[in-house]
Amino acid sequence: MFFKKPEFTLKDNLISDKLDKSTISAFNKLKQSSISLKKDEITLFYPGCGNDIIRPLFLLYSLSDFKKANIILSDNLLSPSIIADTVSDLTGIKKFKQSADSHIFRFKDKEIRIIYKEGDSLSDKDLLNFDIFFERAFQLFRKDSIEFIPKIINKLNKGGLFISDFVDFKNKDLKELKFPKEISKIGFYKNFGILRKS
Ligand SMILES: C[S@@+](CC[C@H](N)C(=O)[O-])C[C@H]1O[C@@H](n2cnc3c(N)ncnc32)[C@H](O)[C@@H]1O
Repeated sequence: MFFKKPEFTLKDNLISDKLDKSTISAFNKLKQSSISLKKDEITLFYPGCGNDIIRPLFLLYSLSDFKKANIILSDNLLSPSIIADTVSDLTGIKKFKQSADSHIFRFKDKEIRIIYKEGDSLSDKDLLNFDIFFERAFQLFRKDSIEFIPKIINKLNKGGLFISDFVDFKNKDLKELKFPKEISKIGFYKNFGILRKS
């Protein structure tokens, strides 16, 4: 069956302010690719995210026709107001449902909850299970924590995607997927990979 990925029409001038051309075309390539996640509700975990909300949003829209998404942003230092302002700039959305640790908004018939976890991503004891793990320019900070990657693989749901710009390990439960090399521009480092948990 043909699997439709959703349209994500953001304000063009703002996207090109925030992402360079090669990154934008990397997401377009990913959207055109056969790599997808067929689930109505998707949870994405992004440790060491900084204030980057744009890449996880693009990832979701490039991979899936989800109805509901939870984006867990984790960093030592988070700024929910900057992140919400970026979402407003990109989508035109002004209203968020807000709680102590989250912002919820609806965009193009989809509900997206951004969950803020400020603190050390490596020692998070109550991490939820997730469908997408995404890291970018984070390997330097997690490389000495030998238990981090095994914990992530354990928390990744079956069929879920591990997307990293520094794939520096092998694991029997993760299978490397093939993709056009332009997609690696989503990352910062050169060891970009997309792996699926079996
Ligand atoms: C190089 S920046 C990358 C930011 C973002 N991933 C990007 O690609 O734009 C690394 C980020 O990791 C965060 N960081 C470093 N060590 C961390 C840790 N142990 N737990 C959570 N965040 C951490 C820093 O605060 C910083 O925002």
